[in-house]
Amino acid sequence: MKKLVEKARAARKNAYAPYSKFKVGAALEASSGKVYAGCNVENASYAATCCAERVALTKAVSEGERSFVRIAVVAETSEPCPPCGICRQSLHEFSPGMEVIMVGARGRTERASLSDLMPCAFRSASLRGKK
Ligand code: THU
Repeated sequence: MKKLVEKARAARKNAYAPYSKFKVGAALEASSGKVYAGCNVENASYAATCCAERVALTKAVSEGERSFVRIAVVAETSEPCPPCGICRQSLHEFSPGMEVIMVGARGRTERASLSDLMPCAFRSASLRGKK
């Protein structure tokens, strides 16, 4: 876990956050054992911003990964930084049971299962209810 958090911390250094000044780093561990890091990438058109978690996820999935064990998320907040709703939904698509390690300033850490952070997620089975 310490190594994963260090990778997320290192990724945070590359955050492109000129608008919010809120830098986030993430490191996603795949079941293969490989780790994919990401940082938030903002845009002058604010809605085009991508969170650190989804940058890491997109990198991993584009490399062929489909299953994940845990993700570490690091920000310089007094409280550990929880992933936003869109990131929870995106991560849930692949591994609802993954562990989410949230780290704030001075290393204050909280751990949770994604399924607890994202109850009642929309999923592929939900699409089958269509009339
Ligand atoms: N952000 C993340 O990268 N991950 C989160 O879990 C929360 C928010 C980013 C998006 C935006 O660049 C900045 O933090 C402020 O919302």
